[in-house]
Amino acid sequence: MALSQSGATRDHWSSRSAFILAAVGSAVGLGNLWRFPAEAGANGGGAFVLFYIACVLLIGLPILLSETLIGRHGQSAAPESVRRVASASRASPRWDILAGMGVLAAFLILSFYCVVGGWVLYYIGVFIGDIFTSGIAGGAFEGQSAEAVEALLPDLFANGPMMVGMNFVFLAVTLYFVARGVSGGIEIVANYMMPAFFILLVAITIYGAFGGAFTQTLDYLFTFEPEKLTGPVMLAALGQAFFSLSLGVAGMITYGGYVGRNVNLAGTSAIIASADTLVALLAGLCLFPIVFAAGLAVGAGPGLMFQTLPHAFQEMPFGSVVGLLFFVMVGFAALTSSVALLEVPTAWMIDRFRIVRPLSAIIVAAGAMTLGALAALSFNVLSDWHPLGFIPVFEGQGFFDVLDGLTAKFFMPIGAILTAIFVGWVADRKLIDMENGLGGALHLFWLFLVRFLCPIALVGILVVGIFPGLFD
Ligand code: PHE
Repeated sequence: MALSQSGATRDHWSSRSAFILAAVGSAVGLGNLWRFPAEAGANGGGAFVLFYIACVLLIGLPILLSETLIGRHGQSAAPESVRRVASASRASPRWDILAGMGVLAAFLILSFYCVVGGWVLYYIGVFIGDIFTSGIAGGAFEGQSAEAVEALLPDLFANGPMMVGMNFVFLAVTLYFVARGVSGGIEIVANYMMPAFFILLVAITIYGAFGGAFTQTLDYLFTFEPEKLTGPVMLAALGQAFFSLSLGVAGMITYGGYVGRNVNLAGTSAIIASADTLVALLAGLCLFPIVFAAGLAVGAGPGLMFQTLPHAFQEMPFGSVVGLLFFVMVGFAALTSSVALLEVPTAWMIDRFRIVRPLSAIIVAAGAMTLGALAALSFNVLSDWHPLGFIPVFEGQGFFDVLDGLTAKFFMPIGAILTAIFVGWVADRKLIDMENGLGGALHLFWLFLVRFLCPIALVGILVVGIFPGLFD
């Protein structure tokens, strides 16, 4: 515990490395493992991937530093931290809208994120079952064709009650750790699970690389075909960069609020962004060879990891064990992110309504469970429900996809635009200079990115992404 500016005791990360692990844990998650390969597959591979990397470096990283800086200065829940920076800069406290929107977005993401977390739990169960029925040496259906395997597997998406039940279990585990607090809960998850995650990821990537189809994967992920870089593909890549780095939803402002004065924010931001990007690329290198080798379709979108991949494992030698380890690894990554997502609105409730932490977390989780159940059932009994179908980009999408698209393609970029303008133009220069930990030319470069490149590029990408026909 350390003293905050207001003088009240406030929980903090116990060390710099605890903060890094927790922030990397927040960043690395289903976004890297499930969403990145699915989006890359759906948006044509190479062009998407390279534009994504550019977004991480030129937009994501400067915004990441901006968010942690606001949080560390404010030492509070996100909206209050923004107000403190604003007041120290003699600016309007209403800039807190950028964090307020973020809190709402984090809540919306939490609701569908835990649905996907539930799918992960389901497959952990499936592979444990496979090991019991067919031993560890084989895949449950080794040697059989993809179609045959598909016909044998029960379809998760057809089973509404199962999805809702698993969603509940995953959210309950998340809730348990958030209720225990920052240093006593969130930090513990990251401390154990992130190292285990990295070991498993490297092991499975090596296994995938031996399975062949590696060059095919490299071609697919890194061949740049400029004509494929359309407005919607750019917006998808940008949204993915934000989603993956946990930006634009006040997540890093919230985590920054538990960082001590002695931590260099520029250095830690660089570590967080590099680790996150490395994991996304490794996930691609780990997943696609398995999918290619099994002769399955890469353009499968969200189903890639939860329909295509499990089938691929079940056809491979040692597939049941590798499949189990794979989904355990995904579960670790997902949990260290879902705790971050739950922490953002929870911290806000504690701060705003003076409700104790466990109760705040329970209230947020109950709301997320309600929305999550609707999202899960949108693959199922609610599949004909198209809540924002009248907006062109959401045409034909169910509630789950609407939640995902709305947050990644609207809330996150808009939150980031406001953050860039706030830190670049509104906040007091001395305060920024003191907090950011950058010197010399790098400092000027960062300032240039935050002031000019980020807002302009973000507005541009939003426009071409939402109105692709505009410049034809
Ligand atoms: N970055 C996380 C992931 O990639 C998701 C997330 C978004 C977590 C926003 C916290 C805040 O899975």
